[in-house]
Amino acid sequence: MDVTPSPFLEPGHRTQAGSLAIVSLARDDFDAIRLEQSSGAVDGYAEGATLNTRFGSFPHSTLLDIPWGSQVRASAVDTGSRGRKRRLETTDDDTPVVSQDEGGKAPAKKATVASSGFIYILRPSPELWTSSLPHRTQVVYTPDYSYILQRIRARPGTRIIEAGAGSGSFSHASARAVYNGYPKDETDTKGKVFSFEFNEDRFHKMAEEIESHSLTGIVQIQHRDVYRDGFMVDGKSPDATAIFLDLPAPWKALQHLSRRIGSSPLDPKQTVHICTFSPCIEQVSRTVTELRTLGWTDVDMVEISQRRLNVVRERVGVNLPNERGNSQTPADVLEAVTKLRKVNQQNKQFQKSQIAQNKGTAAEPMDIDSSAAASETAPAPGKLPADDDHDKPWMQGRLTHRSESDLKTHTSYLVFAVLPPEWTEEDEEKALAKWPCGQESKIIGNVDKQARKKEKREQLASRTKKRKTKGEPLDSQTKRQKTDNDTPAESESAPATE
Ligand SMILES: C[S@@+](CC[C@H](N)C(=O)[O-])C[C@H]1O[C@@H](n2cnc3c(N)ncnc32)[C@H](O)[C@@H]1O
Repeated sequence: MDVTPSPFLEPGHRTQAGSLAIVSLARDDFDAIRLEQSSGAVDGYAEGATLNTRFGSFPHSTLLDIPWGSQVRASAVDTGSRGRKRRLETTDDDTPVVSQDEGGKAPAKKATVASSGFIYILRPSPELWTSSLPHRTQVVYTPDYSYILQRIRARPGTRIIEAGAGSGSFSHASARAVYNGYPKDETDTKGKVFSFEFNEDRFHKMAEEIESHSLTGIVQIQHRDVYRDGFMVDGKSPDATAIFLDLPAPWKALQHLSRRIGSSPLDPKQTVHICTFSPCIEQVSRTVTELRTLGWTDVDMVEISQRRLNVVRERVGVNLPNERGNSQTPADVLEAVTKLRKVNQQNKQFQKSQIAQNKGTAAEPMDIDSSAAASETAPAPGKLPADDDHDKPWMQGRLTHRSESDLKTHTSYLVFAVLPPEWTEEDEEKALAKWPCGQESKIIGNVDKQARKKEKREQLASRTKKRKTKGEPLDSQTKRQKTDNDTPAESESAPATE
């Protein structure tokens, strides 16, 4: 079976046409694009297929055949028929005007670097896909799925059942976790994700994505109501050892995840690990009850709470320019008092001038800086007391940290449980044959101290005897133990030790 490697699993070292790529625009701002090799103008751009962002335009030709992670500068693109020239219906000798109909006929123009703007081009990963995927549902985010995958023992070769598939965030992460190669044919058993989705539109969208991300063979999606129809695939068991349920009522699906039913989707010989993902404690409670009823053990619940801390240097002061990172509050009491005095002084000046106006006399001009004497004593705005280090602009201000409130995690409760393999009559008989019960010659721990000492002495004596017979020298340990242990009576009665 010929397979194109998935960009999520084997992306190679360089970007290539036809591949999915993730564009990093800013921190936590990613876009997924499919790179195109265009030989002519596309969509009015003389440079061919072009990505437009708020940081400029990027013809795909500038994004191709470069190492993943490269920084790419924006280009000054020629919008040809799409831009100004089309509206004015005039042509410029330098610019091939290519209409939508002509697209592809004229050769693509070479891109020229623009004066500003850049992006990074990143290899697709489940984490970046989670940050850029088109949301069709609430999704499982990286902090949750990384923990879930290790708790359900997902590793290369594992067979996972996942329901519902939703937007495919968990599906991509689990596909990477279980990947141990593409199956060569139907009989080749490799790590696999068996995904189930009830909603028809989401099922079709997900099926398209699996295909376009070359994950066919690693992820198999079924259109199914799992509460009613369970988890068998084409009448066969997925032989799963790991299960993840992100469903509104996971307890309704648990009846199908048992080895005691006619056709079980579980591996009959191995322990199975499950995780259910529910936002409400009532859902957790019902799931736990059902898990216990069905013989699952080691049931526990976890909530992942990840906080990312933002450490910034903050400049504080009333006279600072109103810029990002500056806080317009007094840096200390001295600055606050100085400011108050200044405002007070200005008020007095103003009142004086008003009174003078009313009396018809000329007002004294307002002297805003007359309070300078007070402010002279205050430190410069935003500065800490004189110190060589604090004079450096990057050392100014106070170091503060706060947790980022907009970190994307979906707070849900994770319920974990374990289903051990079934213990049959046959297994019991085999165990009895191997370790017969009631025929033990001795029970460990029931021999008293004196008896144990005697046993040890006898063992040592027989070992020494054997060595002497063979003419081997006694090692120092044995000699010492012999001296410690041998009583005169024993030495006399044991000719071998004489
Ligand atoms: C929250 S979404 C799952 C999100 C997914 N885990 C992800 O990371 O993108 C829940 C999905 O379960 C599906 N669903 C609900 N009931 C179902 C059922 N009985 N059988 C199969 N899927 C079901 C919904 O259609 C929805 O797409």
